[in-house]
Amino acid sequence: MKILVLNGSPKKKSDTFRLTEAFLRGMNRRAEHETHIVRVIDTKISPCRGCFSCWRRGDGRCVIDDDQNAILDVYRDADVIIWSFPLYCYGMPSHLKAVLDRTIPLVQQKMVRLPDGAVRHESLVDFSRIHTLVISGCGFPHWEGNFDGLRQMCRTCFGSPTMICVPETPLLNVPAAKAVADPLLARFERAGEEYAASLALSPDTIAALEAPMIPADTCSDSGPIYPATRPPSSPGAKMKPLSEGGARTVFPPIPSRRRIWTGITGTWLNPASFTHLPPLTTPVPSAI
Ligand SMILES: Cc1cc2nc3c(=O)[nH]c(=O)nc-3n(C[C@H](O)[C@H](O)[C@H](O)COP(=O)(O)O)c2cc1C
Repeated sequence: MKILVLNGSPKKKSDTFRLTEAFLRGMNRRAEHETHIVRVIDTKISPCRGCFSCWRRGDGRCVIDDDQNAILDVYRDADVIIWSFPLYCYGMPSHLKAVLDRTIPLVQQKMVRLPDGAVRHESLVDFSRIHTLVISGCGFPHWEGNFDGLRQMCRTCFGSPTMICVPETPLLNVPAAKAVADPLLARFERAGEEYAASLALSPDTIAALEAPMIPADTCSDSGPIYPATRPPSSPGAKMKPLSEGGARTVFPPIPSRRRIWTGITGTWLNPASFTHLPPLTTPVPSAI
C-alpha cells in the first residue's frame, strides 16, 4: 500500500508521532508498504490565498510555488493517509491546517447535496478509495468534549475517518512514565497490524488506544502533565521525576522585581502577582 503520513507536530520528539511510529511498525509487520512521511513544520507551505485559481484551471494544482504541490501528488495517489498531530486549541496546528486548506485544488467549485442534506464540492480525485486515519495526542487528561471540535471537522472533511484521540500524551516523553507509556505503544503496534489487515479498527481497539494512561482525576486538579521542553528564555528549568511527585516542568522563580511588558494590554505586569497559578506539584498514582 502507499501510505502518506502528515506529521503535524512542530516538535522533534513528538509525543503523538511516537504513537504513529508504533502504529506504522505494526502495519509493516503485516506487509511492506511504500511510506512517505512528511514533517510538515520542515516544509515550505504558505497559507491558502483564497484566489480559487485552482478551480478556474481545474488541474488539481495550486498556483503558489512551494512544497504543497508535491504533497498533493502523493496525496491523490495514496491508499492510506495518516494525519498525526497534537491537539492545538481543540483543533489541528495551524501549519498542518494550511496543508488541509490547500487540498482544495483536489475538488471542484461544483457542489453536490448528499442524502443527509450536507453539501460538498465534487472531487477531482476518487476519495472513496483513500482511507484516512487521524491520530491526535493532547495534554489534558481525558474529558468529554476536548476532541469534539476536531472530530466534527475531520468527519466532515474526510468522510468518517478512523480517529484515535489520545489524552495525556506528554507522558510518552517522560522516562519515569515508561511503565504506562510502553503498554500504550504496544497497543498501537498491534492496532497497526489490525489496520493493515482490514483497513479499519474495531470499536474495542479504539477504546483501548484512547484509554487514559493514568486516571484522569490524578492530574486534572493541577493541569496537564508536561515534560521538560522549556522555552529558551527559562535557563535552569529542571524536571521532577514522576517518582518524586510529578512530571511537570519546574521553572526557577521569576525575580519579583523583574516586570513583564504585555503587548496586549500595553501595561507592565509584576510576576509576583501571579498567585492564582496552581502549585507545580502532581501527585503520582501508586500504580506507576
Ligand atoms: C498551542 C498549543 C495548544 C494546545 N491546545 C491543547 C488543547 O486544546 N487541548 C489539549 O488537551 N492539549 C492542548 N495542547 C497540548 C498538546 O496537545 C500536547 O502537549 C501534546 O502532547 C503535544 O504533542 P506533540 O509532542 O506530538 O507535539 C496544546 C499545546 C499547544 C502548544
